[in-house]
Amino acid sequence: MKIIATIVGARPQFIKCALLSRALREGGFAERLIHTGQHYAPELSDVFFAELGIPQPDANLEVGSDTHGRQTGRMMIALEEEFERHRPDAAFVFGDTNSTLAGALTAVKMGIPLIHVEAGMRSRDRSMPEEHNRIVADHVADVLFCHNAAAAERLEDEAVAGDIVVCGDLMRETLSHFLPRALGASSYPARLGLAPGAYGVLTVHRPVNADDSAALAEILHGAAGLGRPVIFPAHPRVQRHLAGLAEAGAAKGVRLVEPLGYLDMLALTARAAVVLTDSGGLQKEATFLGIPCVTLRSTTEWTETIDLGLNRLAGDRPAAERIVAEAERVIRLRAGWDARKLDDFRGRRLEKHFGPLNVSSIITQTLTEFLEG
Ligand code: UD1
Repeated sequence: MKIIATIVGARPQFIKCALLSRALREGGFAERLIHTGQHYAPELSDVFFAELGIPQPDANLEVGSDTHGRQTGRMMIALEEEFERHRPDAAFVFGDTNSTLAGALTAVKMGIPLIHVEAGMRSRDRSMPEEHNRIVADHVADVLFCHNAAAAERLEDEAVAGDIVVCGDLMRETLSHFLPRALGASSYPARLGLAPGAYGVLTVHRPVNADDSAALAEILHGAAGLGRPVIFPAHPRVQRHLAGLAEAGAAKGVRLVEPLGYLDMLALTARAAVVLTDSGGLQKEATFLGIPCVTLRSTTEWTETIDLGLNRLAGDRPAAERIVAEAERVIRLRAGWDARKLDDFRGRRLEKHFGPLNVSSIITQTLTEFLEG
């Protein structure tokens, strides 16, 4: 049996590996699921494994939080030992986090075929660690799985060395698989006393927005300016900053809650009037659900969400008025859609930009052929 190392470490990667782990195991591979420990808080990690039925990790490297260099370096040291012990036939990395970078560099240095899922994304913002991480992973990978042809073309333009395969978007496959369960099982938003369509959802965790009290206060004022309750499930790094932020209390209408698991977050987002976020994953999920979104960044790697019309950029450290203006605009646009237009959007138009839904089986089949060839 071929051994496949799957390297995950941060919340979005647990979401991406869920259906793929299942497909790899069913496809006859021996998977070693390796958790770097980048996200260690139960609400950022354990809850996703439980809800998405992800097997318990075969190894947890327990690196925890640190500076980027030390965090990535510690992951590489531990991954090298793990790979020496188990000699995987290939290693999977996902997206653009420090866990992606560490997995990619360790695999290529040890001659282990590297597979990068969510390849070919570019925000063109070189100040973001995610941009360096994804560029490096793309250029050292042997197989690059892209969600659409535009991502594949970017890789061809950059003359990457590996094989490029268009397979669709794993996060969309996960969402469509778990959405019925989320809508049935989750008590959100009723648990907060809110009706569907009556509230907004806010998430902020990028250092540029979240590590600066003035920027964070301005975002809270913008959210409060929407004129409807806004639910803010706060990442641990943001909770620390909010604790010292008097304005948090002043931003009436913004309700802080603990980070939510996948099913509750999905149910909350699916029933929201609007999403305000600086997360790459949540921008996409809002678009998949047909929910208007304002992205609290100057750039996005997920340009399709802009092209499809339901996402608007408000800028890094956006002013409150800008957030409100962009939100009103995109809410108005979406309100003009009838049921037929929404169905067409969720079907044909999403498929055009994000590919088919059987992503994990395409990846597993391609891997089988790659390892046989
Ligand atoms: C990481 C990813 C980002 C992804 C995000 C999803 C990188 C460079 N960034 O950002 O691309 O969108 O995850 O959530 O890899 N912390 C805790 N508990 C935890 C984990 C983190 O309190 O379980 C705190 C720590 O103080 C840490 C800070 O959050 O210093 C940042 O965590 P880190 O994993 O380095 O980056 P994220 O901001 O979560």
